[in-house]
Amino acid sequence: MLKLTQALLCAAALTMASLAQAADPIVIKFAHVVAENTPKGQGALLFKKLAEERLPGRVKVEVYANSSLFGDGKEMEALLLGDVQLLAPSLAKFEQYTKQVQIFDLPFLFNDLAAVDRFQQGPQGKALLTSMDDKGIHGLAYWHNGLKQLSANQPMHVPKDARGLKFRVQASSVLEAQFTAIHANPRKLSFAEVYQGLQTGTVNGTENTWSNYQSQKVNEVQKYFTESDHGLIDYMVITNVKFWNGLPPDIRTELEKIMAEVTVEVNKQAEALNQEAKQKIADAKTSEIIELTPEQRAAWREAMRPVWDKFSAEIGPDLIKAADDSNKKI
Ligand code: LMR
Repeated sequence: MLKLTQALLCAAALTMASLAQAADPIVIKFAHVVAENTPKGQGALLFKKLAEERLPGRVKVEVYANSSLFGDGKEMEALLLGDVQLLAPSLAKFEQYTKQVQIFDLPFLFNDLAAVDRFQQGPQGKALLTSMDDKGIHGLAYWHNGLKQLSANQPMHVPKDARGLKFRVQASSVLEAQFTAIHANPRKLSFAEVYQGLQTGTVNGTENTWSNYQSQKVNEVQKYFTESDHGLIDYMVITNVKFWNGLPPDIRTELEKIMAEVTVEVNKQAEALNQEAKQKIADAKTSEIIELTPEQRAAWREAMRPVWDKFSAEIGPDLIKAADDSNKKI
């Protein structure tokens, strides 16, 4: 009798163990708006690969590229509702949740990506990652795309060449002000609408990185690119606070480790991906790439710089100073 009870208990324990093992994996939906062959697209895929390799059967990551699950305008709401667990919106798209993150849109703020790194990895940059926690949004990392270039169907060497043109901008008041400052007309459009907007003439020009231009075939509908490096497109990888805090601690710790590794990789590869994309645009011979002289670039800088003063109070002068100081190598 004792033996039978022991055997039954043993069998029950085994069944429970196998049931626990067979429990459904936690599904993490990671949605974004760009193509797979971009810094963010590659980062999302690497995160999926490492998470599923290191947490087999426990985590499943579904990546939705090209606005295929949620596009601009809907994705943050979806994150807060729990319909998607990871996003990496461009830093221009947080205005509704925080005024401080607008800092990254200030024109001619960072000289290069090394300066961006120094600011993002410094105390003020890191603090911005948790600045929306009270709204339910938690920043896990910054990912680079790169510096922005201008595009239009007419050559733009100096700011007055852009006068009167309609430019597509992301949903950002700073970017609107940037184009107003050069007497152009900004129009907010979602990323998915950019190609068609340019094709149909809803807008005449835009600003973006080489990898976004090339992967969206923007060179088919824009004859001129100006290598202005006038601003930044980077991302904050974000999650829903409740979802993240509700993960089993060992899974959360492992995912944070993986996110840190992926971040190093994305930030190492981003510039090379953009340069490759620029080369592809040049090889396609659809468009001319205009290089600016130092004097021409200074003219763009001077024309756009009043935007800093306009947003200084909202963003915080100290934060702007810290970002500006990151241009100094220490
Ligand atoms: C854009 O909307 O232009 C970009 O921010 C898209 C992206 O995520 O790179």
